[in-house]
Amino acid sequence: MNRYTSAESTGERDFIPFARPSIGEEEEQAVLEVLRSGWLTTAGRAKEFESDFAAYTGAPHALAVNSATGGLHLALEALGISSGDRVITTPYTFTATAEVVRYLGAHPLFVDIDPHNMTIDPRQVEKALKDSAGYRPSPTSRGVKAIIPVHLGGYPCEMEELKGIAAKHDLKVVEDAAHAFPVRTDAGYLGCLSDVGVFSFYATKTITTGEGGMVVTEDPDIAARIRIMRLHGIDREVWNRYTSNRAAWRYDVVAPGFKYNMPDMAAALGIVQLRKAEDFLRQRRRIASRYLEAFEGVDFLKVPANSPSHGWHLFILRLDLEKLSIGRDQYIQELRNRGIGTSVHYIPLHLMSYYQRSYNLKPDDFPEALRAYKEALSLPIYPGLRETELHRVIDAVLEVGKKYCRGGQGG
Ligand SMILES: Cc1ncc(COP(=O)(O)O)c(C=O)c1O
Repeated sequence: MNRYTSAESTGERDFIPFARPSIGEEEEQAVLEVLRSGWLTTAGRAKEFESDFAAYTGAPHALAVNSATGGLHLALEALGISSGDRVITTPYTFTATAEVVRYLGAHPLFVDIDPHNMTIDPRQVEKALKDSAGYRPSPTSRGVKAIIPVHLGGYPCEMEELKGIAAKHDLKVVEDAAHAFPVRTDAGYLGCLSDVGVFSFYATKTITTGEGGMVVTEDPDIAARIRIMRLHGIDREVWNRYTSNRAAWRYDVVAPGFKYNMPDMAAALGIVQLRKAEDFLRQRRRIASRYLEAFEGVDFLKVPANSPSHGWHLFILRLDLEKLSIGRDQYIQELRNRGIGTSVHYIPLHLMSYYQRSYNLKPDDFPEALRAYKEALSLPIYPGLRETELHRVIDAVLEVGKKYCRGGQGG
């Protein structure tokens, strides 16, 4: 029982949580084996998870880390992003995407989203590059150096366009693929289409290790830098320190690294979850198509953009607020009253006090992100969502909308 699985623990027997991980006996067994092995931190299971992940995606290098946040930080560091640089990204994301830019003393340069699919708009990227050409926030600044597209909810960003822009302006691309495993496009897996890609295995993600992430890249030098920097900047991994014939205690520190390694307990979960990833994706897609079928054409709702390459980590429904006498927040409350847990993805970063204060941002600076935020409502979508629960979510969404539809019944 935990905060995701337990209806009972909240005292509401029929509450349908927004998220619920799919953990079975195989995962329990795998973690138990690690606990009983006498070695809890990074070792054989983490290596095995990395090689399984590399084989699965075809990525030449896969590096397990203890969060996608850490992975994004490592990726930017390895690409040489440094103080005063600027990194283009979307405000329509979780703060982790932009905070890692600040870790390095660089600055996020936000650009608005495409209203159709809510991912970063390549046309806005071009415009931002044109508008900021020659601008340097400080005398040492080197200007825009990278783009971080976010595959929001598992929907593929326009990678061809973004990579074309990056090539033209000599920019690195780091995919924030926190929501996007295992989504295949004609070009390959999301997260594997650029310089570096970063996946999240946080508790609510498409596969989970509790906390964790994976960094993938084709570049052996970037992989080598990340391997060293994820563990204090030490030149050999801790496991080798205790198992190789070389003196166990001797190591060198080649840089002031970080502590982002994935422990074997988490990796053991990941190995099992990875085997289930395809089935999980199938189930998410099945639920998404049921939602789309139920909500398409309902006049107070706007369904999310569909694509054969959508991972459906999130199902972000949008409300047509002109058709409704209530706002999104009250809609959430009405669903809550009917025992349905929902969420909002995202409160855009340009509405957060830190980013507003630091970059003098106003709500209207990114009108599409602002509008999406006001309308967005994420519905439960996970493999363990039962048929009866799916029906209840659909019925409740329609019932609330009809109750508050201006000028009579909707849909
Ligand atoms: C878009 C996005 N990027 C990055 C992250 C960070 O992932 P993690 O929690 O594994 O650090 C998240 C987490 O929710 C996310 O949603």
